[in-house]
Amino acid sequence: MKVLIVGGGGREHAIAWKLRQSPRLTELYCAPGNAGISEIAVCVDIRADDVRGLTDFASENLMDLVVIGPETPLAMGLTDMLTDAGIRVFGPNIKCARLEASKSFTKQFLERHGIPTARHMIFHDKDELLDHVGQFGFPMVLKADGLAAGKGVIIAETAAEARDAIEDMMGRRVFGAAGDTVVVEEYLEGIEASMLCFVDGSTIVPMESVQDYKRAFDGDKGLNTGGMGSYSPSLIFDETLEDEIREKILAPIYEGFKADGLDFRGVLFIGLMITDDGPKVIEFNNRFGDPETQAVLPRLRSDLLDIFLAVTNDRLAGAELRWSGMRSVCVVLAAGGYPGDCEKGKLINGLALTDDDALVFHAGTAFGSGSHDVFTAGGRVLGVTALGATHEEAREKAYANAARIRFDGMQYRRDIGILKEV
Ligand code: AMP
Ligand code: GLY
Repeated sequence: MKVLIVGGGGREHAIAWKLRQSPRLTELYCAPGNAGISEIAVCVDIRADDVRGLTDFASENLMDLVVIGPETPLAMGLTDMLTDAGIRVFGPNIKCARLEASKSFTKQFLERHGIPTARHMIFHDKDELLDHVGQFGFPMVLKADGLAAGKGVIIAETAAEARDAIEDMMGRRVFGAAGDTVVVEEYLEGIEASMLCFVDGSTIVPMESVQDYKRAFDGDKGLNTGGMGSYSPSLIFDETLEDEIREKILAPIYEGFKADGLDFRGVLFIGLMITDDGPKVIEFNNRFGDPETQAVLPRLRSDLLDIFLAVTNDRLAGAELRWSGMRSVCVVLAAGGYPGDCEKGKLINGLALTDDDALVFHAGTAFGSGSHDVFTAGGRVLGVTALGATHEEAREKAYANAARIRFDGMQYRRDIGILKEV
């Protein structure tokens, strides 16, 4: 089987690494990929948002399957274009992609199907929104409707902060058209957790649980980022909570997809808040999470290519998902300045010093021209994942290996996987 992966981050490296273990894989391509991915796949210089270029490449080179990593090409309809060209795709179509690309669409879906979520109101007009500052009290949760690279949610502590955020979104349009519609939500107190599920036309199957860290610095300080680390399994989930999520959230989502004619095939990533009132949905993403994937896939025993094919053929209900009992921890090594502007082109040392117990997934990396030296090329540079018989062992191994890697300005959180009292 010839497979093309779209994307070039740590998530895509983890997917490529796992697909490589499949005996049915014959050729693996990745567009655009990165330095680490290029050691296990042929990297093709097409950007992830060049949907026309990707479709042409996949057609001309007779790909048997295309796996789409990031949200942007999904929202642009890459799945539909590939399907029209007769190519099998893992990733939802443009209609389903709205579950990530439009927060108002998602809120309406959740309410229509009685799925627990924060109360909300939708605004298209700045003055009307300004009249509703404090609608659900403070903190006030304001969300730009469209895709905003993870930056479109503002939690305003005061009315003044809320007015500034509204001015940014709807006045100065800092998120462009994504902020022309704004969703206001009730603020939920609780513990956040993510649940990644495989979904096809016949069923929805959760993967092992995983926890990520969004803030830049230790102790959950600093700005929100794409993710600074993760571990699996999450220690919040127990059988009672999982049963409650299955019954109150997964079952009605699946029924809702059927009722609304949403033919979802791919990964549904459910962001949850576990409140005193039970679990509530905060958001959906319609793809694997990054860096959740780097902690979850190393624990998957089953053949990932078989699972992707089962999803595209509606055979997921009969597919086998086996997981390792080992624990995993992934620590993200970021460039200085991340998540703001960061320096690129720094030489990365020590990659060869990491031991066999660790997996190093590349994100923003590139080879120097004509050399085997690896340089930084993005905000999140590497993710170091380790497995261990215990959570502590996985954590120690991940950090021991992270400490062997060096580049100018390198920063990482020291508290990934340190368990807080809850
Ligand atoms: P989202 O992009 O919708 O996941 O929002 C980003 C982050 O904002 C979430 O991970 C939560 O930490 C926080 N958040 C979003 N919605 C709410 C809410 N209704 N109540 C409390 N926190 C929220
Ligand atoms: N880690 C969150 C995301 O992938 O959006």
